[in-house]
Amino acid sequence: MLLDTYGRTATDLRVSLTDRCNLRCTYCMPEEGLSWLAKPDLLTDDEIVRLVGIAVTRLGVTEVRFTGGEPLLRPGLVGIVARCAALRPRPTLSLTTNGIGLERTATALRAAGLDRVNVSLDTTDPAVFERITRRKRHGDVLRGLAAAKAAGLTPVKVNAVLMPGLNDTEAPDLLAWAVERGYELRFIEQMPLDAQHGWQRADMITAGDILASLRTRFTLTPEHDAERGSAPAERWLVDGGPHRVGVIASVTRPFCRTCDRTRLTADGQVRTCLFAREESDLRGALRSGADDAEMARRWQAAMWGKKAGSGLDDPAFVQPRRPMSAIGG
Ligand code: 5AD
Ligand code: SF4
Repeated sequence: MLLDTYGRTATDLRVSLTDRCNLRCTYCMPEEGLSWLAKPDLLTDDEIVRLVGIAVTRLGVTEVRFTGGEPLLRPGLVGIVARCAALRPRPTLSLTTNGIGLERTATALRAAGLDRVNVSLDTTDPAVFERITRRKRHGDVLRGLAAAKAAGLTPVKVNAVLMPGLNDTEAPDLLAWAVERGYELRFIEQMPLDAQHGWQRADMITAGDILASLRTRFTLTPEHDAERGSAPAERWLVDGGPHRVGVIASVTRPFCRTCDRTRLTADGQVRTCLFAREESDLRGALRSGADDAEMARRWQAAMWGKKAGSGLDDPAFVQPRRPMSAIGG
């Protein structure tokens, strides 16, 4: 098991497959992009499958989510999914994507064993989309979402980040849009994980703001807390149900106490938290011939060092060296 000194057990593994992306969301990356990891530094498909296998068969991981950057940019994605789906016990497999290219790959991903997708989409307006992501790809995302639903990658979840002056008035429109299509919408509070270090607490649209805005058009009733478990999203029934909306209030209502996550970066570093300042190298051990038992021991040692919380509320908080796109969402 992956235990820490606060009594938490990590059963949910996030694997970043690449740090590259074909969008440039302002809350994530600068216009010019970032200096990407070099190919030899990335874990190979075989190395990823081996590490996921160790996590699932030796360390109690039951859920595996592939992230990026943009994971659909990884050429071997379908093969990685298929090989992870063949592991026993079979983990639940999901993908967090910006949806570009999903139109072409959703059916193959489903056939390979992918269970669910989360698609990032912050607006129903193509012009606002272009201002947020600096690319004209709104239509691609909408088609990707529809393809995911048609392929049975359900429930299809949509992640939205609200930014002041860009899309902060859109929460009710987004919810009406998602409800109509049967997508489960979740708002994520903007976190200090942008490469430009431009995040300011005072500029943030909080969970409180989002709920107040939604309540101007919808009746929201909280779902029973017991159903939340370790899920970071707090959920509400929309107009009595069955549709739901979630809010992930990482900044204003942190859920660190029940965190069940462990993360692997595209270059083979274990991170115990999005906001951790430290990483533990697994790639070096892997490439110098360590056996599965040794790899598992190293992963456990890394998790034992997991901090109690994100430190976001500490005035001395320092943003992690790597941005979200290199850590994995
Ligand atoms: N704050 C909150 N969410 C973010 N995402 C990317 N950067 C940030 C940030 N700074 C979101 C993406 C995607 C998920 C992986 O995280 O929109 O939905
Ligand atoms: Fe790409 Fe996601 Fe970052 Fe947007 S938030 S630039 S889609 S990695």
